[in-house]
Amino acid sequence: MTEFEIRPVRPLEDASAVLDHVRAVCGEPGVWVVTTADEFQVTVDEEVALLRDLSDHPTSACWIGLDATQRLAGMLMARGGDRQRNQHVSSLGMSVSAAHRGQGLGRQLLVTCLDWAREHELVRRVELNVIADNAPAVHLYRSLGFEVEGVQRGIYQRNGRLHDQYVMAVLLS
Ligand SMILES: CC(C)(COP(=O)(O)OP(=O)(O)OC[C@H]1O[C@@H](n2cnc3c(N)ncnc32)[C@H](O)[C@@H]1OP(=O)(O)O)[C@@H](O)C(=O)NCCC(=O)NCCS
Repeated sequence: MTEFEIRPVRPLEDASAVLDHVRAVCGEPGVWVVTTADEFQVTVDEEVALLRDLSDHPTSACWIGLDATQRLAGMLMARGGDRQRNQHVSSLGMSVSAAHRGQGLGRQLLVTCLDWAREHELVRRVELNVIADNAPAVHLYRSLGFEVEGVQRGIYQRNGRLHDQYVMAVLLS
């Protein structure tokens, strides 16, 4: 398996690389994400603020994966609830750059997040949404304990076809 370094994001230092990464993923023709590259209009300052919010929030976190040349190869953001009654819920989104997929980085990022969640005194539920046709992602999530809780039918549109989305979650004891 390829070796990647996983570390918490550093908002000021990493914001620009994060933006380049997300823009590239959104621009892939066959990718199962909602935002298109045209719609992704976030400035560096906005990204710094967003990453700072995640870093400062008690049940949010963000990690990046770096390849052997220290380039950003993937990331995972977990956003915690803002209310007393849902702060134990962390909703995640993740992506690995096309060149680095299938080399275990997605698994490393998700294991890092789940280890953090299990050790966290507040986090009890980690959840995500995934397009049902996104086979590698669904496989990865299931293999680390996420279960499908529901199906949102026809919620995603591509080339005139409607696709379902799974709501998946893992509950931590
Ligand atoms: C989903 C994603 C983050 C996974 O990252 P990754 O680094 O490629 O993941 P890994 O290499 O750790 O694991 C991929 C797993 O999917 C499996 N896989 C690959 N293609 C597959 C397919 N067509 N069907 C089923 N499983 C597949 C791999 O065998 C591997 O499982 P294994 O570890 O049991 O062998 C990455 O594909 C990605 O960024 N996709 C684009 C953005 C995206 O879809 N994000 C998720 C939105 S919910």
